[in-house]
Amino acid sequence: MRLSTFPAVLAALGRLTYAASSQGCNKTSAAPTLEKRVTVELAANKSRSFMYWLPPNYDPKTPAPIIISYHGVRQSPTKQANLDQFDNTRFNTDMIAVYPQAVTPPGSDEVMWQGPRKATQDDIGFTMEILDQLEEEFCVDTDRIYASGKSEGAGFVGMLACNSTSNARIAAFAPVSGAFYPGHNDGMSDKCKDEVPVPCSPMRCNIPFLEFHGGADFLAPIEGGLHRHECLPDIRTYMRQWAQRDKLDTEPTEVYNLTDVAQVNKYDDKGTVTFVYDGDKVGHDWPWTVENPDTKRAHSKPASFNATSYIMEWFGNFTLAPPDNCNATV
Ligand SMILES: *[C@@H]1O[C@H](CO)[C@@H](O)[C@H](O)[C@H]1NC(C)=O
Ligand SMILES: *[C@@H]1O[C@H](CO)[C@@H](O)[C@H](O)[C@H]1NC(C)=O
Ligand SMILES: *[C@@H]1O[C@H](CO)[C@@H](O)[C@H](O)[C@H]1NC(C)=O
Ligand SMILES: *[C@@H]1O[C@H](CO)[C@@H](O)[C@H](O)[C@H]1NC(C)=O
Ligand SMILES: *[C@@H]1O[C@H](CO)[C@@H](O)[C@H](O)[C@H]1NC(C)=O
Ligand SMILES: *[C@@H]1O[C@H](CO)[C@@H](O)[C@H](O)[C@H]1NC(C)=O
Repeated sequence: MRLSTFPAVLAALGRLTYAASSQGCNKTSAAPTLEKRVTVELAANKSRSFMYWLPPNYDPKTPAPIIISYHGVRQSPTKQANLDQFDNTRFNTDMIAVYPQAVTPPGSDEVMWQGPRKATQDDIGFTMEILDQLEEEFCVDTDRIYASGKSEGAGFVGMLACNSTSNARIAAFAPVSGAFYPGHNDGMSDKCKDEVPVPCSPMRCNIPFLEFHGGADFLAPIEGGLHRHECLPDIRTYMRQWAQRDKLDTEPTEVYNLTDVAQVNKYDDKGTVTFVYDGDKVGHDWPWTVENPDTKRAHSKPASFNATSYIMEWFGNFTLAPPDNCNATV
């Protein structure tokens, strides 16, 4: 190797550990409280709120990644945290865990996220304001912000991935047992069409997307169907659409069993688009090997793996990719 290439090599090595820091880095305010669930109002709109949790390794001098996790219909930040355990040091010692609170749309009596026809509030804008607030107050690695969620909250994670404002700030998306509402009732009938068009214009084609679904999900069935007067997409079709948007093969390039019942389907070597089939017996759940609030319900049984462990490892494989301007609108 010629000597003159050394600086380039060093620069490349430096980039591996590079973290994009936010305005909150090195702020000399009061020492932050670690490992506590804290609920705050949104500074930009006091009628919205969210909960956050700083990990044990949080240090105001070192940019920390964020995981933002969305609860399901009728659920809450606390319930979502009890379910996903992104705020349990067994699974997460480094990332700030954030749990936004949904609102009750007009004409409804349950909290939900933007997505279904009647929920038209701007939760994408809400999410951007949460990130603004956290980045200002805490030392955040703005290249490592991740989104996850359950059920209708998972459906909203799909919307975040489909929107070019939010996907410019969130590095990777991991919805669990997603109910991906198309937000319209085109083709609504007793039998939903095979291909339910879910509006999506990410305006790029390098979006990491990981979904988990069980074969016994009777609320958001893996084969899709009518729910809350809208057609939910078939999950395997929906995942193939993500592979198409990301310009990957339309069939998984690698299929292997995670356990004797759960199967991983990767659409490229890196798992940029990955579908995890939880197994035939797993319901509308956050997969967990011991009883959790989901598996306690009728029709549900513990899974063969903990979804959170898989998600943490997968998130760790991605940082925010620069825009590629490929105008993906599949
Ligand atoms: C604040 O949030 C509430 C609840 O979603 C919404 O109705 C209102 O329009 C928001 N206000 C502003 C200024 O965004
Ligand atoms: C914070 O300050 C330390 C020195 O005290 C410096 O090494 C570090 O780069 C600063 N971090 C950021 C993100 O500004
Ligand atoms: C993305 O979300 C923002 C914030 O809600 C919104 O203003 C914008 O219209 C959305 N973009 C698309 C293409 O839907
Ligand atoms: C792998 O998982 C699939 C899907 O649940 C299952 O049908 C199959 O029996 C499993 N195969 C092995 C070898 O464990
Ligand atoms: C899943 O997490 C629980 C703690 O909630 C733990 O007891 C169990 O061993 C974990 N399962 C695996 C496969 O690691
Ligand atoms: C993360 O990346 C490593 C190295 O490429 C790979 O072996 C591993 O399977 C990936 N993890 C997940 C959950 O995709």
